[in-house]
Amino acid sequence: MIHCFGDSATLGRQLARELGVTAHLAKVHQFPDGETLVRVSPNVHKQAILIRSLHRPNSKLIEMILAADALRRAGAQRVILVAPYLPYMRQDAVFSPGEPISQKVIADCLGRSFDRIVTIEPHLHRTHQMGDVFPCSADALSAASVIGRWIERTGRNTLVVGPDEESAPWIRRIAEEARLPFVVGKKQRLGDRRVEIEFPELPTRRRAVIVDDIASSGGTLAVAARTLFRKGITTVDAAIVHAIFAPRALGRIRSAGIRNLVSCDTIPHSTNVIRTLPLLTAALKEWSQ
Ligand code: R5P
Repeated sequence: MIHCFGDSATLGRQLARELGVTAHLAKVHQFPDGETLVRVSPNVHKQAILIRSLHRPNSKLIEMILAADALRRAGAQRVILVAPYLPYMRQDAVFSPGEPISQKVIADCLGRSFDRIVTIEPHLHRTHQMGDVFPCSADALSAASVIGRWIERTGRNTLVVGPDEESAPWIRRIAEEARLPFVVGKKQRLGDRRVEIEFPELPTRRRAVIVDDIASSGGTLAVAARTLFRKGITTVDAAIVHAIFAPRALGRIRSAGIRNLVSCDTIPHSTNVIRTLPLLTAALKEWSQ
């Protein structure tokens, strides 16, 4: 059985249809003091799948942990979390003295509540595998194939561009799928919204598609686009996985001249064009065999 929340009901029902199981809506009650109570369907099977993308994460994290407990108390022996977007993965080191490693804290917390966690393209730069941080089974599905196929369908005279060196192996896979050349930049973060990016010599191409796992402030896409225009690219499009888009991000991206901005549907947004349901369905079908 699939259990979803109001904001993940569409995805939950689609996934349930693909898997031939039923979907149930969990309810969240907010007490006057701000605490929440989660109620799941008490008719659970041995295995329960909770599905929800965890952007705007703080309240959702609490709700997911409460829901996992509720499912176990109702009789589920195995509780799986499907979170197409998994938050807190970027703080994977103490960047300045006095900071936590948020990735580890959140992974420990979720790993104690769930038997398995599945997500799409978590930001694992210094941590190479989910198993290095999660104390339960944890799987990261790659969106490289679906993004690569979208790029291939949308034009030939194209260069695939990664904004930072850390993304090089991922960008290479996407470029191979699209059968196009690629470059990666050197990015330096100067603040929450400010970055600098340098690119090497570019092969002659009219169009570039910048590919990134997350767009938050939009600073990375905007700076990458401006730098590419300065280097002679005439059309810049962008394909991202997780459309977080902080306030004013879209304006920042559009004013940098990016023509077509598309995202995967891991976070519901008007830019969603690339479907990830087939990735989730295939993974869940494989595990249940
Ligand atoms: C960072 O390494 C990520 O891959 C993204 O480039 C970053 O999170 C984008 O953030 P922003 O849109 O705020 O520049």
